[in-house]
Amino acid sequence: MNIKVKNSGIVNLQKVGDVDGNLYIAEAMKNIPFDIKRVFFINKPSSSRAIRGRHAHKSFVQAIFCLNGSFVLNLDDGKEKQVIKMKDPGTGILLGPLLWHTMSNLSKDCVILVLSDAWYGENDYIRNYKEFLRNTND
Ligand code: TYD
Repeated sequence: MNIKVKNSGIVNLQKVGDVDGNLYIAEAMKNIPFDIKRVFFINKPSSSRAIRGRHAHKSFVQAIFCLNGSFVLNLDDGKEKQVIKMKDPGTGILLGPLLWHTMSNLSKDCVILVLSDAWYGENDYIRNYKEFLRNTND
């Protein structure tokens, strides 16, 4: 997979698989390129039409994973757009600053995990698409 949008990238979790199951490992400043300060996850979408995200961050860096099921990650850096089918728990996508992201087509059993380099703060969110585009043109 090639990432075309700006401020993104691929992160691979370490995987230790054996007959008793798979173990996935995320370590700050090792395979995750930032210090993890917050972890949140999303499950049980209300329907297959549920849409999450629809925002960009001013400075937060995050990594998003699909731990179970699947979803579609739509990325937009203001110029380039990219659609990524997320289904491999060991392969995450970096969501750097000024990257508009939307999660759609969540399967019923989908579990989305996000690792973040910052505590929650609404001030870092850009939730208006026009405002986002203005920011990318600065
Ligand atoms: P939101 O960022 O809109 O979720 P998503 O991008 O997954 O669609 O967050 C939904 C609500 O939860 C919103 O009111 C903010 C709140 N929230 C927190 O209080 N702390 C958090 O760490 C996150 C991610 C959200």
